Amino acid sequence: MMLRTAFTRRSQRSTMEMGGTRFMSSPSWWNKVEPAPKDPILGVSEAFLADPSPDKVNVGVGAYRDDNGKPVVLECVREAEKRIAGHKNMEYLPMGGSANMIEESLKLAYGEDSSMIKDERIAAIQSLSGTGACRIFADFQKRFSPDSHVYIPVPTWSNHHNIWRDANVPQRTYHYYHPESRGLHFAAMIDDIKNAPNGSFFLLHACAHNPTGVDPTEEQWREISYQCKVKGHFPFFDMAYQGFASGDPEKDAKSIRIFLEDGHLIGCSQSYAKNMGLYGQRVGCLSVLCEDEKQAAAVKSQLQQLARPMYSNPPVHGAHIVSTILSDPDLKKLWLKEVKGMADRIIGMRTQLQENLEKLGSPLPWEHITKQIGMFCYSGLTPEQVDRLTSEYHIYLTRNGRISMAGVTSGNVAYLANAIHKVTTAA
Ligand code: LMR
Repeated sequence: MMLRTAFTRRSQRSTMEMGGTRFMSSPSWWNKVEPAPKDPILGVSEAFLADPSPDKVNVGVGAYRDDNGKPVVLECVREAEKRIAGHKNMEYLPMGGSANMIEESLKLAYGEDSSMIKDERIAAIQSLSGTGACRIFADFQKRFSPDSHVYIPVPTWSNHHNIWRDANVPQRTYHYYHPESRGLHFAAMIDDIKNAPNGSFFLLHACAHNPTGVDPTEEQWREISYQCKVKGHFPFFDMAYQGFASGDPEKDAKSIRIFLEDGHLIGCSQSYAKNMGLYGQRVGCLSVLCEDEKQAAAVKSQLQQLARPMYSNPPVHGAHIVSTILSDPDLKKLWLKEVKGMADRIIGMRTQLQENLEKLGSPLPWEHITKQIGMFCYSGLTPEQVDRLTSEYHIYLTRNGRISMAGVTSGNVAYLANAIHKVTTAA
């Protein structure tokens, strides 16, 4: 105790002596560090958790809830876990992850009988969900196409900007959402594709665009693909919601399949956070379609090399769950049924939210709630109206007016509609 006090007293001076040696006192390493701004999405969840109100509603983060507002573990996941228990060791996966999980993921994205898979033209690694896939790709882009930009839709998932920023890839934007029509700004998007320098990188949301819920039609995808082909652009698909848009993962992969038919070389990020409810398992897949098998082997080795100094190899448990489900026909069938169940519940909530607003006599148009697709409704609420929803009604959502429809339930839809009506009609 005496020694400690003497040490503390001495360490307050700029230098100190111990055992005859003079030491500099520690500089204050981090006194210039300012607190980071709150994440626009995950910060909303933090605020929600801190609110003691019994009325609170979280429609911020895109995480599925059942009709009682509870998180869901899918039956197929429970069953896969039973099968895995005691039969798998906890060894490191290879740097590229689980070969079986990757193979099954590629079938989902590129098609069960894809010749590109058979010809081994796809470089693919297991990723830390969709974020990890985008980040490894962004780093890959920087390393092997160092002078390129990435074209990002306006708006997009806020983390896309962080990902490409931290990979030091300069960002440009392209038109996507049209606020007046609350739909796609298709003509402006096509112009941006045409006006971008040849061979640009375009980030595309494969389905269930986040945050707008606005997807191009099949015909529009064909035109987008054609124009990208004319310009020699590289399309990178973020597919975080396969199955969540229509309830059918095959249908939701249509955009990618159109690009494949047109002979594009593409990149693709897949995530099992939403469609298998494996949010915290961080399991996904990054793939890059190459010209041939040799190129794919080289690209894969480089993707792995990017992953190695970041996290060495990906986590094993989620990968086992995914590969168990997707490689067993019965479990896969169960999964397809459960994805459809989640998508259908959301579609039902869209109808109820719109109907409730109309019943309240709202003079504003709300058809876009049911026209948009996937997990989110881009409501058109202003940041000030969102602030009122939170401060007066304990309803939590991002300030861009995005409502996570996955958090809307039969129990809270009337409350939500009433609050929206109040903040949009009364000062
Ligand atoms: C979202 O958009 O809410 C989700 O993708 C969760 C996240 O990490 O932002």
